[in-house]
Amino acid sequence: MSQPSGRVRVAVMISGAGSNMAALIDAGQAAEASFEVVLVLSNDPEAGGLAIARAKGVPTAAIDHRPFAKDRAAHEAAIEAALKTAGTEVVALAGYMRLLTPFLVHRWAGRMLNIHPSLLPKYPGLDTHARALAAGDAEAGCTVHLVTEGVDEGPILARQAVPIVADDTPATLAERVLQAEHILYARAMADFCRGRIRSL
Ligand code: GRF
Repeated sequence: MSQPSGRVRVAVMISGAGSNMAALIDAGQAAEASFEVVLVLSNDPEAGGLAIARAKGVPTAAIDHRPFAKDRAAHEAAIEAALKTAGTEVVALAGYMRLLTPFLVHRWAGRMLNIHPSLLPKYPGLDTHARALAAGDAEAGCTVHLVTEGVDEGPILARQAVPIVADDTPATLAERVLQAEHILYARAMADFCRGRIRSL
């Protein structure tokens, strides 16, 4: 998979703040990194992460989904063209809030990762922290997995548990899990691109 630089070329897809994206960019800019972020792509031109990526010297593309409201295939075809142009080898979803169709999922099968804020297979989908608190769980956490057609269902690559503490709210728990996400995603991507991890 590696290019002449020796680093796997990763594109990160975001919809929002992009803190996981920033962690991946930073990890990819370290000496001896096994990957580099070559493109940050958002479906929302206002996503805060786009400016952060540009400030870190990473090319960005905004492919707004709204003009494609009636044609998801055309939106994904535009995304695919941008990924190809950037020479992408691996795609990292990082707070990308659109469901992908089989068109992109199949094209990137085995080469598209996602980070999810729960200990999958527990709590796929939204509101993971509120659900963990409501269930009285002792721990929450995050998971990096390969993307398949089922939402948050793909083979698990890495997980990190985060203890739930007294008086945690969904917001305080989300903040602590997010810090763990940054470390886990960077490490899982590095290992994946070194060919060190397959699914658990
Ligand atoms: C993260 O919690 C991620 O797990 C979830 O969306 C959030 C994105 O945060 N899918 P950020 O944009 O990376 O800051």
